[in-house]
Amino acid sequence: MIIDVAADPGRAIASAVRALRSGAVIAVPTETVYGLAADATDADAVSRIFEIKRRPSFNPLICHCSDLEMVRKYAILDPISLRLADRFWPGPMTLVLNANPTCRLPSKTTAGLATVAIRIPLGFSNDLIKSYGKPLAAPSANISGRVSATKAAHVKNEFGDAMPLILDGGPTKIGVESTILMVRENGLELLRPGGLPIELVERVAGLPIDMRDLVGEVLAPGMLTSHYAPRAFVRLNATRVGPDETLLKYGDLSVPGEDTCARVFNLSADGDLEELAANLYATLKAADDRGASTIAVVPVPDEGLGLAVNDRLRRAAAPRSLTPKELELAYADQRNAL
Ligand code: TXA
Ligand code: MG
Repeated sequence: MIIDVAADPGRAIASAVRALRSGAVIAVPTETVYGLAADATDADAVSRIFEIKRRPSFNPLICHCSDLEMVRKYAILDPISLRLADRFWPGPMTLVLNANPTCRLPSKTTAGLATVAIRIPLGFSNDLIKSYGKPLAAPSANISGRVSATKAAHVKNEFGDAMPLILDGGPTKIGVESTILMVRENGLELLRPGGLPIELVERVAGLPIDMRDLVGEVLAPGMLTSHYAPRAFVRLNATRVGPDETLLKYGDLSVPGEDTCARVFNLSADGDLEELAANLYATLKAADDRGASTIAVVPVPDEGLGLAVNDRLRRAAAPRSLTPKELELAYADQRNAL
């Protein structure tokens, strides 16, 4: 069932709360992307997220809370994380915090780590968590490795009837996932660039930001794990486009070959990086729907939301040939670095 949130928010929340209480997984709009939500304190419900999403069980989930009081129940806020929380929550930021040893979430949710990733989202999803009274574990609403959903129709196409309830909040405003940060002894580590520009974080934290993991060789030697991938191949930093390729560009500059290429998508005619990010996933999916074989993307600057866009595009363009074993090793490397 799909419920239009704007048409009847009260009914949307009541139906969602009922489904969550019964241990179901439902699709919920957030300001970043759609999430597959379940009660974060219910190990069985959380297991169903992993099944539906076909997600490896060693990859932990983000726990969504309505306010700082709920966060404190499950995690410990160090002074720098608290400063970031005061400034940027509710919003598109996830903090990896030490778990509160007196009130642990099921290890299904945290993959057994001593830390927990937490976010206070903005808008409808926050109202829902407040009404439900407990945190929601919610990964992005896509099959593992595929492009995230920014519209209710994307969720429907991805999961069909396996999703009993989809709350339709319209297209998500930000369009890329949250920025994930972790305070370390000697600074702040950016684990994933996202909807909160790192330039803003830097100003508030007053600390150097370690972006080590964004460079492929540290994350997984010699290769980036394929993720956010459309069916079509993705070619980055295109300065010209071939006749069989689909072009993704932005702004008003013309790209050599665009008049004779298969199709052109302009992600932001004004050259605005926020608009580009908001349109990215829907456009990758649209290119797939129209049978694109290769998607050529023009260079995007590594500033503002461009950093998150480039991260997603690099992963979308990464080799797809990882075996499950190689994937597990790549994740293990990533975890060892934490
Ligand atoms: O915007 C978002 O963050 C969306 C919406 C639905 O809130 N959620 C999302 O979740 O992107 P997901 O599961 O697709 O990505 C969560 C990321 C994963 O890369 C996971 O490895 C990481 O967070 N993560 C979770 N717990 C962690 C932890 N304790 N330490 C380090 N990374 C963690
Ligand atoms: Mg995801």
